[in-house]
Formats: sequence, structure tokens, C-alpha cells
Amino acid sequence: MYDFAPLTDAPKPELYEELARAAQALVEGEPDAVANMANLAALIWQFVPDLNWSGFYRMVEDELVLGPFIGKPACIRIPLSSGVCGAAARTGETQLVPDVHAFPGHIACDADSRSELVVPVVVNGKVIAVIDLDSPLPDRFDDEDAKGFARLAEITARAIG
Ligand code: SME
Repeated sequence: MYDFAPLTDAPKPELYEELARAAQALVEGEPDAVANMANLAALIWQFVPDLNWSGFYRMVEDELVLGPFIGKPACIRIPLSSGVCGAAARTGETQLVPDVHAFPGHIACDADSRSELVVPVVVNGKVIAVIDLDSPLPDRFDDEDAKGFARLAEITARAIG
């Protein structure tokens, strides 16, 4: 049993410090990528408040394919030319979207989503997956969140790469 105690009311640097520590412990010694993504999606859901979707898309033959997640069922395949996830995978850069309705080509998987953060998972200079976070709150994510998830993306890269 894993019994992590999320600091959901803590300042973001502390919350992400704890999340990174828990994530590292969770994937330690486990080589199965699907199991690690599934546990990381659940851990994010447990630690990070105000989300309606947390999970992964994996790069499979030049398109993104749905991976383990928590939230409503989502679109399965995303071309790199589309959406917030496609932009993160294509550019290799984090996409912080305060208002999804203002993002050209945003793909609405859940009508509740108002803001989104997508962070690439990079191995040997190549994007192999993205971490996707959706929130029902507008402007939910800031640079502290992006920094926290960049660290989580590094842990993910070692756990699934
Ligand atoms: N909104 C994403 C699609 C994935 S769902 O949010 C889970 C996008 O525009 O790429």
C-alpha cells in the first residue's frame, strides 16, 4: 500500500517538492511504463487540486495516443498539428493555456475544462510523451506549476523511457 500525504494546502514549491519525492518513490525499481504512468496519473490527481483531467499521451509513430489518465474518457489520437498536446509534442515546449477557448485548435475532451498545462516528456532529445493537466478553473496554472511539472516530466522520462 502507498500512503502518501499530499500537501494540497501548502505553497506550490512545497507541494511540488513533495510530489516529486512521492513520484520518485512510486516508480523506483519498476520498469513497466504503463504501470508507472498509471500510478503517476493517480498521484498527480491526489496531490494537485482543481483538476478535472490528469494523464499522459504517448508518441506512437508520429502521433499522440492516449495513455493512462484520471478523468472523463478522452480523445484517443491527437495529430501533432492539433491541440495543446500536439503543440507541446511538436515544439518540445511546455504549453500553459490560461483560457482554452482562446487557444486556436484546442481539442475539447471535457466541456468543463477551462485552462490547461501540457508538459513534454523528453528522452535523448526526443518527445516520447506529454503530461496533460486540465482544470475547470480559468487561469489555474502558473509558472510554479509549469516548473513543478517540468521536474515531474524528468522523473517520468526516467520511469518510462
Ligand atoms: N485539450 C487537449 C486534448 C486532450 S484532453 O484535454 C484530455 C488538447 O487540446 O490537446
